[in-house]
Amino acid sequence: MQIVVAVFIEAAMKIKVSAPGKLLLLGDHAVVYGYPCIVTAVDKRLYVEAEIINDSENKIIAPQVKESRFVLESIATFKEKFKIKASVKITTRGDFSHNVGLGSSSAVTVATFKALSLLFDSDISEREIFDLSYEVNLKIQGVGSGFDLAAANYGKTLYFIKGGKVIEPLHNEELPLVVGYSGVKADTPFYVRKVAEAFKSKLNKMDSIFKQIKDLVEKAKIAIEQKDLTSLGREMTQNHYLLQQLGVSIPKLDAMVEAAIKAGAYGAKLSGAGGGDCMIALVSPKKTSAVKKAIAHVGGEIIEVNNNADGVRVEN
Ligand code: MEV
Repeated sequence: MQIVVAVFIEAAMKIKVSAPGKLLLLGDHAVVYGYPCIVTAVDKRLYVEAEIINDSENKIIAPQVKESRFVLESIATFKEKFKIKASVKITTRGDFSHNVGLGSSSAVTVATFKALSLLFDSDISEREIFDLSYEVNLKIQGVGSGFDLAAANYGKTLYFIKGGKVIEPLHNEELPLVVGYSGVKADTPFYVRKVAEAFKSKLNKMDSIFKQIKDLVEKAKIAIEQKDLTSLGREMTQNHYLLQQLGVSIPKLDAMVEAAIKAGAYGAKLSGAGGGDCMIALVSPKKTSAVKKAIAHVGGEIIEVNNNADGVRVEN
């Protein structure tokens, strides 16, 4: 009888949460320099299960995540803040791999903080989860705006300024996006540093591009709120051309973007740091099939994903 009770208590101590991946709609790179971006959370999720273990070391089983350091550092930061001595086991599962650039590191970081806060019944606000996650992100990557963490934490579609200076939910519905994966894994910190190098040597040119991107983000924000897809698409395409000028696009992404536009998309652009990962196209339902075919024709892989998804949440 005692054994049955012990097993029951242990089972009850497992906490399961999930956080969404993301797609950057506009403002890539400029957001690192203090300009706004617009990000949407997607329904491909990263799941974290947390439990207390009777061991001297924490245990991490995280095959979907590129670097288990994100989990380890989140545990260390959490335990230090809340003076916790117990060891934990974190197990992850994912709807997506870290190869496609949907943000597995940010999702696992936010989900780990959320799971630990529930496991130890800690008093932590939504905002603190974002701030601690951003601290971990900067410690590991040294660069980054934190937009991906905001998407993982709050979900939906957000207007965002670096470090969470502004995190504003946009009142919209899901956007009709087609997502194409280039088949090339992008090295985000490499491209962020590449832009930083160029920024040092061509300050005026780069700042002028960032300001033009900012103007597009502001117009896109209004377009989203007014459900004006024609304008939003135009702003996205213009944003892609500015990212080309920053030197972060690659021929494969350009071909996918051009193919989507030719096939009738309202607009299209690379999404994220560039150098690979995904592109997005804004498409009316009538043109979806043609746009998907056009992207596939130039070698892109269509990723079926919905956007405007929920932020971090408890799973049963
Ligand atoms: C990378 O997905 C997007 C960048 O703007 C970097 C960042 O905001 O952290 C290039």
